[in-house]
Amino acid sequence: MANAEVGDDGYGEDPTVNELEEAYAAWVGKPAAVFVPSGVMANQIAMRVLTRPGDVVVAGALQHVVGFEMGAAARNAGIQFHTVDDTDGHLDPRSVQTAFDAERHHQPAVRAVVLENTHMASGGSPMTPEETGALVAAAGGFPVHLDGARLFNAAVALGVAGSALAAPATTVMSCLSKGLCAPVGSVLAGAADVIAQGRVERKRLGGSMRQAGVLAAAGLVGLRTMVDRLADDHRRARRLADVVAETVSRDFDPATCRTNIVCFEHPDAEALVGALAARGVLAGTVTSTRVRLVTHADVDDEMLDVAIGALVALRDGVGATR
Ligand SMILES: Cc1ncc(COP(=O)(O)O)c(C=O)c1O
Repeated sequence: MANAEVGDDGYGEDPTVNELEEAYAAWVGKPAAVFVPSGVMANQIAMRVLTRPGDVVVAGALQHVVGFEMGAAARNAGIQFHTVDDTDGHLDPRSVQTAFDAERHHQPAVRAVVLENTHMASGGSPMTPEETGALVAAAGGFPVHLDGARLFNAAVALGVAGSALAAPATTVMSCLSKGLCAPVGSVLAGAADVIAQGRVERKRLGGSMRQAGVLAAAGLVGLRTMVDRLADDHRRARRLADVVAETVSRDFDPATCRTNIVCFEHPDAEALVGALAARGVLAGTVTSTRVRLVTHADVDDEMLDVAIGALVALRDGVGATR
């Protein structure tokens, strides 16, 4: 980051940003990409470029763009969501088709679909290129945005190229600041004209940056050196999932953990997160009965043992150690 060559990205003159945009575009097999400050902004730009105010957009009910962006799509793009069931991280193409059919029955026009890969709230479920293709086919030619905040995890878990996962989608975004460990930034990719419009929307949302090469440099390190490493996060998450099933959530199926997120039901999610925190393990809640554990580059095998020890202690009713 300290050595990054920089310029004014507002004029497209930051060589490091340009290099990052080209590298990500190549990774997802799209002609162009734009660097943005966050994953939420990437999703919001996609909504503004692909839809018009009043449009309906189909998405899974638990997706980030629906439930975790503070209603931003309604405010920024003036759209409303038609949500379909995605409890297990997968959408049924028939439910997408049914949503499009609604227009023939006096309901507002559905004009786009958003998919999420991996699907966060279900526990990081990866979606195959075939599944993505079937959902895009169900959209009948309307644009599909792929929220690939963790598309790198999907690629590693499935052993497929990012370009295969992104090929059916119109636009795709990924976060550099999650498993790839960059401090800031996401990238949105698609056709050149779509991304050119995306740059306009980035400006409108206040997301244009100037000497952003210092940030893009870290993104490049992530893209080049952190993707294969995600397999370690997945292995550790699966180990945690096995222990969760043996301790605090007996109905949980650990085989559903395919990437770096362990999401499971617990009658009092906040109390469990508090008890884990008292043992030095930081977890989060998705709902009042759903807990989320995430593995990442800063959780090594020794720390995994601490987390496992905490879960076992909670099963055995051992008191907090601090
Ligand atoms: C699936 C998904 N999409 C988008 C985002 C938004 O990313 P950011 O926090 O960088 O805005 C997240 C963040 O957790 C996410 O999980």
